[in-house]
Amino acid sequence: MTPPPEITEMLHRAMGFDAAALSESAVGRAVRKRMAQCGQRDAPSYLVYLRASPLELAQLVEELVVPETWFFRDGKPFEALQRFVMEEWLAANPERPLRLLSVPCSSGEEPYSAVMALLDAGFPPERISVDGVDISNVALGKARRGIYGRNSFRGAYPGLQERYFTATPHGWLLHEAVRKLVAFSQGNLLGADFSLLRGGYDVIFCRNLLIYFDDLNRERALAVLERLLLPRGVLFVGHAESAPVLDKWFAPVVSPQAFAYCKKSALPAQGKLSPPGAGLGRARGESRREMLPEKPAARLRPLPQAVSSIGQPPAGNTLEQAQCLADQGRLAEAAVQCEAYLREQGASAQAYYLLGLVHDAGADAENAKEFFGKAVYLEPNHYEALVQLALLAERRGEIRNAAQLRQRAQRAQQRRGIK
Ligand SMILES: C[S@@+](CC[C@H](N)C(=O)[O-])C[C@H]1O[C@@H](n2cnc3c(N)ncnc32)[C@H](O)[C@@H]1O
Repeated sequence: MTPPPEITEMLHRAMGFDAAALSESAVGRAVRKRMAQCGQRDAPSYLVYLRASPLELAQLVEELVVPETWFFRDGKPFEALQRFVMEEWLAANPERPLRLLSVPCSSGEEPYSAVMALLDAGFPPERISVDGVDISNVALGKARRGIYGRNSFRGAYPGLQERYFTATPHGWLLHEAVRKLVAFSQGNLLGADFSLLRGGYDVIFCRNLLIYFDDLNRERALAVLERLLLPRGVLFVGHAESAPVLDKWFAPVVSPQAFAYCKKSALPAQGKLSPPGAGLGRARGESRREMLPEKPAARLRPLPQAVSSIGQPPAGNTLEQAQCLADQGRLAEAAVQCEAYLREQGASAQAYYLLGLVHDAGADAENAKEFFGKAVYLEPNHYEALVQLALLAERRGEIRNAAQLRQRAQRAQQRRGIK
């Protein structure tokens, strides 16, 4: 069934998603399911019902959101959070609580990971104040329950469950001591209610949502985030979200793969104070070679091993070594390591993906495209490689191709998100 355009338009207004994220087939599926559940026989009568019921619109939105998330997703942002807070923020704010916003927080893994990272770093729990906001009441219900299954721990983080969770017949229950530090509420980043939020956040995580917005709504969302973030605060976005529109208000401040930004308005004039987050790595205008040296995280309790790659490349697994070298900006060495891995182990989507990232970071878009393409050839549902291909296509101005790739990426993510 082709959904009436009025429904797609209502969803677009409610969620801000672009055409690829609100594809005819996805909306059609969601509408069919909701029609069956509320006993509406045809699309026109469902449209009348939908127009009269904000609750039904919320239910329809639930069918289209992608709640995919897991603890310590991408790892690096949480290491950067530890460094920012312990090595910079604490000295400037010796007494007041740290305020952190996670939007969208989905089922809570992201804000809870931020709390656990801070606790692991030795930050006092009584000074942690975290807000988690999401459009989905279903996801928020899971967040408040705090019980998690295997998929929420999909990275191998030795000891995380043992330290912070209790096994129950329904899954792993997060300790109350962590849960009570996060206040969850329902909200739409594009809604009027959101712009009324109090603001004053030291850190904002807004990851894996902007990618679904069309340009106009991405810009609206970033304007809201800019207002909510304190002048010396840090914004973390997802790895595929460093779109040009970010440049309007924000400037990148940290090492590769943390995707952290400070407010442009907080950038110092030449020779004045350092920008917020300067201790985290590369600041705008510096080349990767000029990146600030990695600070030893001596005062920090390290994050679980799988998410921590500060320091020496691990021995024994050349792909991990390659990742670690790439994280340190040692791109040529990372490429050599990936190629050695491919020679020894044969074709590997992850190795090609990493080679793609290395070439992209080295401004070699042609080779980056080829390697991401190989990753997708081997693993057609390789979400990250599809997103990178979409970004490359966008940069070349191939809008239609980019939209198709984003659509494929979204389908791949939905498949992967089936828990
Ligand atoms: C892929 S999850 C990202 C969760 C987490 N930030 C992460 O990166 O793991 C996307 C979330 O965005 C939420 N969402 C979608 N549109 C939204 C909006 N307009 N405002 C707030 N949340 C939204 C969805 O409900 C979903 O839980």
